[in-house]
Amino acid sequence: MSADELKRQAAARALELVRPGMRLGLGTGSTAKHFVDLLGRRVAEGLDVLCVATSEATQAQAVSLNIPMSTLDETPALDLTVDGADEIDPQLRLIKGGGAALLREKIVAAASARMVVIADDGKLVPTLGRFPLPIEVVPFGLEATRRAVATAIAASGAAGDIALRRRPDGGPLVTDGGHFILDARLGAIERPELLAQALNMVPGVVEHGLFIGLASGAILAGAGGLRLLGR
Ligand code: 5RP
Repeated sequence: MSADELKRQAAARALELVRPGMRLGLGTGSTAKHFVDLLGRRVAEGLDVLCVATSEATQAQAVSLNIPMSTLDETPALDLTVDGADEIDPQLRLIKGGGAALLREKIVAAASARMVVIADDGKLVPTLGRFPLPIEVVPFGLEATRRAVATAIAASGAAGDIALRRRPDGGPLVTDGGHFILDARLGAIERPELLAQALNMVPGVVEHGLFIGLASGAILAGAGGLRLLGR
């Protein structure tokens, strides 16, 4: 089975968690896209939900499927968010932001009573950090912020290269919020909580891709079937 088929299986299982009347957060990325697609089919059959998107791309997809959409200003408390992840550890700590949507993803997850991650089981790792950690920063003072980020990373006991994420044409990638992304290649993050705290203290850092204490469950699809972590 291809990785894409596994992602769709995980998305289909997550759809079983959706009840009529729920307020849902819709994630971003190729796995979340399957969930939105499947949700759109249920909405076309009459399912009543109200959703908030974590990116402009997801918003456009949901609108194209006639899924009723809201905002966190109108609907500040959500029942369930379903989103993908770049890495998941056994304690349900995540790295997110490979699709550059980490800021809205974290805000939406924090506004949700429950966040369930959907992924192929290749995303499950014993230790976070093989995937480069995305760090969203304001464009002003980029080099100074990059140095301060390097210092924060070192203070937490980690180390590695930090690169500005670029578009295919070479310019800096700009997020939905108008910010840049620094990708920190750390290899292993032994103390994610400490690193998260250190990054939170850096002026110019808007958000980082360490999601700690946000995911309540994960649905992981693999060759051997579905595996559920948490709730
Ligand atoms: C976007 C994300 C995505 O959820 C993450 O990158 C996983 O994407 P995919 O499902 O395409 O592997 O965090 O910012």
